[in-house]
Amino acid sequence: MTFDASPSADGLWTNLRSLDGQPCAIAVVDGRIAWTGAPDAAPAHTTRHDGQGALVTPGLVDCHTHLVYGGQRANEFAMRLAGATYEEVARAGGGIVSSVRATREASEDDLFTSASARLQSLLAEGVCAIEIKSGYGLSLEHERKQLRVARRLGEAHGVTVRTTFLGAHALPPEYAGRSQDYTDLVCREMLPALHAEGLVDAVDVFCERIAFSLAETEQVFQAAQVLGIPVKLHAEQLSDMGGAALAARYGALSCDHIEHLSQEGVDAMAAGCTVAVLLPGAYYTLRDTHLPPIAALRAAGVPMAVSTDHNPGTSPALSLLLMANMACTLFRLTVPEAIAGITTHAARALGLQATHGAIAVGMPANFVLWTLQDAAELAYWFGQRPVRCVVRQGRIAEGAV
Ligand code: NIG
Ligand code: FE
Repeated sequence: MTFDASPSADGLWTNLRSLDGQPCAIAVVDGRIAWTGAPDAAPAHTTRHDGQGALVTPGLVDCHTHLVYGGQRANEFAMRLAGATYEEVARAGGGIVSSVRATREASEDDLFTSASARLQSLLAEGVCAIEIKSGYGLSLEHERKQLRVARRLGEAHGVTVRTTFLGAHALPPEYAGRSQDYTDLVCREMLPALHAEGLVDAVDVFCERIAFSLAETEQVFQAAQVLGIPVKLHAEQLSDMGGAALAARYGALSCDHIEHLSQEGVDAMAAGCTVAVLLPGAYYTLRDTHLPPIAALRAAGVPMAVSTDHNPGTSPALSLLLMANMACTLFRLTVPEAIAGITTHAARALGLQATHGAIAVGMPANFVLWTLQDAAELAYWFGQRPVRCVVRQGRIAEGAV
């Protein structure tokens, strides 16, 4: 069924259980949460949806993805299994640049079709808002193509999409040895043009030895600041570049990966109210052993989000619940932390805290009914999809009551 044809969720949702195990009900009027509370205090309604005791959570938010790209990179998976590191593959001309070739060759419609199939997996598991980055085009024409596809995906599937311009993801081959020239192009031409076309909700940079320096990162942040666009950063994934502290000074929405984040970086993020986005799928795929500083982030009160980082190189993952499971098992998050990580804190990492990540009066109706007894089961099972139904943008978009 297409999203437009899916039934309205308006009415009173009864016989639900909240994350704390309490019985609850939700009233939806004109696609928005009009009331929520204990069932015996529920307002009268002619339409009723019987949740049959289902656990209910806010709609999930996947706050870091590279969903739109051509091709795949299973060959690099094999190379890494044979002993090559991610950096070695990248320096040998593989890595991000190989996805750039395939993305440039693909038409907008090809990219839409392949990304739609991937998006459908995430939506069926309860995702109601998603961030989609560019970064596999690396020229105005091809970055535009990726961002246009991201916007089309949101309209076609009835899901909130936040677009992030990641022109500074890798150096395109035609700029080999001319990193500064490419950074200038990103800042002076690509970003202003794409912003003028309404395609950029946020700006990101891959700040790393194999990507962009701290100074180049700051140049991109300054260009974003001039245009009033919020920033985020792929920070300290492979080494400590000091990127997180820089990003926090620019009021970044989030710093993502952060396996090599220092205490100074943690403190800067706490001071800047920057969300830490944990990406256990990339950590797992790269067989990383350097854990992000979870205890320090927790102690400093930095909100932690968890995301798929879906991309063809380091995280070909299409399950946010599996990421919650990995965040617990690999990173030692508690179950409530993991659940907040794929809902409330993920919404905040996108600046969407007023509309997503919670079931609150006035918000658009985005929530998920699960065939589970206990909230801990959300992070416990993996490889199954325990969804009864998903209410997205005020419609029963997946499953049925
Ligand atoms: O988030 N770290 C940089 N960017 C992506 C990987 C992109 C790729 O390898 O294609 C990431 O892991
Ligand atoms: Fe990423």
